[in-house]
Amino acid sequence: MSSKVWGGRFTASPNQLVEEMNASISFDQALLDEDIEGSIAHVAMLARCGIVEEAEAEKLTEGLKKVHEKVTSGVATFSAQYEDIHMNVEMLLHEEVGELAGKLHTARSRNDQVATDMHLYLKKKVKNIMGLLKDVQHVLCDKAEAHIDTIVPGYTHLQRAQPISFAHHLLAYFWMFQRDTGRLEDSLKRIDVSPLGAGAIAGTTFPIDRTFTAELLGFDEVYPNSMDAVSDRDFIVEFLSNASMLMMHISRLSEEMIIWSSEEFKFVEFDDTFCTGSSMMPQKKNPDMPELLRGKTGRVYGHLMGLLTTLKGLPLTYNKDMQEDKEGMFDAVETLEKSLSVLAPMIESMTVRSEHMYESVKQDYSNATDLADYLVTKGMAFRKAHEVTGKIVLTAIQEKKNLLEVSLEEYQSYSPYIEADIYDFLRPENVVAARDSLGGTAPNQVKKQLNHAKSLLKSNY
Ligand code: ARG
Repeated sequence: MSSKVWGGRFTASPNQLVEEMNASISFDQALLDEDIEGSIAHVAMLARCGIVEEAEAEKLTEGLKKVHEKVTSGVATFSAQYEDIHMNVEMLLHEEVGELAGKLHTARSRNDQVATDMHLYLKKKVKNIMGLLKDVQHVLCDKAEAHIDTIVPGYTHLQRAQPISFAHHLLAYFWMFQRDTGRLEDSLKRIDVSPLGAGAIAGTTFPIDRTFTAELLGFDEVYPNSMDAVSDRDFIVEFLSNASMLMMHISRLSEEMIIWSSEEFKFVEFDDTFCTGSSMMPQKKNPDMPELLRGKTGRVYGHLMGLLTTLKGLPLTYNKDMQEDKEGMFDAVETLEKSLSVLAPMIESMTVRSEHMYESVKQDYSNATDLADYLVTKGMAFRKAHEVTGKIVLTAIQEKKNLLEVSLEEYQSYSPYIEADIYDFLRPENVVAARDSLGGTAPNQVKKQLNHAKSLLKSNY
């Protein structure tokens, strides 16, 4: 007979390699808290439903708490021989309460147990990630507030397009993160469901009370179908998808900050504590942190594709393939927690070089749309105004002048509509202030936007 918990029907034990492949304790030990919490609730339910004696339940509960204490203080250790967190806890419980430990698994399977652990884990982690995301949003609002009147070129195709308020640019990321918050919050509806009591696949012959354990564990609902309960990993796929989208936003922001910090742009400077030097080139200050955030996005996408692929061919219900759901999830959680934790202080401590931003705006032709709009307000059709402006810009480029340096005589040679007030019209401050449409970049609108953003930060959970 095999020495395994499930060894009864076996005549031989698995070989070393099989045992290694099979074991998940090296990573699923991260579920210790949830596993113990789930077991304590399960025991309470067994007693309430008369499946174990009250006194037995008390002993089991005390034993479980002891196991938790011993593991967290390093007195007890796990062994790969017992495969996973569930069986390791049971083995350690045996050391505490003897044969009684064998009653813990009454009316339960590792299939509903592991699913319960992961629901509990992800519920806790998603809430934590939402809190960290909120910190980033706060920092974005604070930076934006300080830079409502800071003018910077806005880009399309990475070519200067129209001048904008730097606050407007930062707040664009606030709204991306706000959608991420919404998605994470919504996903909690699907995470907050209890699979406990589904058994291995079909429920159990014991008179259990699933609603009671769900309540004890703080779940909102129970899965109505035991087969779905043990085979559902949608909530993890959904988390990885939300994590991917959030990382994509972090990555886009990182990419922009890397560009802005380059010598060519000189729009921002990172605090030394977020950069490293080069081992060969003494002058270098490399933006490693945003580069790593951009780089780590790839691994989170990878976890999403990995799990989708793992699940796509699985028949109901539990298959061992599903043990592969954990490492990617743990890694995505850790990546997000670290990324968000570094992003907030990195933005906060970043120096915004407003004067360089303004210099760039002054040198460019990003007020050309305003010249065309000016002609339109004077009665010219937009298409015509576009063409005339294009010609003026072409000559100005050839003569190495910006639009404020073109003389009135020259302007009038292109169109008699142009008068002396054109210079005021084309000043960067006025170009920005003129975009006073809802959601536009005029300081007036940006202030309203910022108030809206701040009120959301106050109101949501
Ligand atoms: N370690 C397993 C996992 O993570 C627990 C469930 C095992 N269930 C089973 N029927 N072998 O998936």
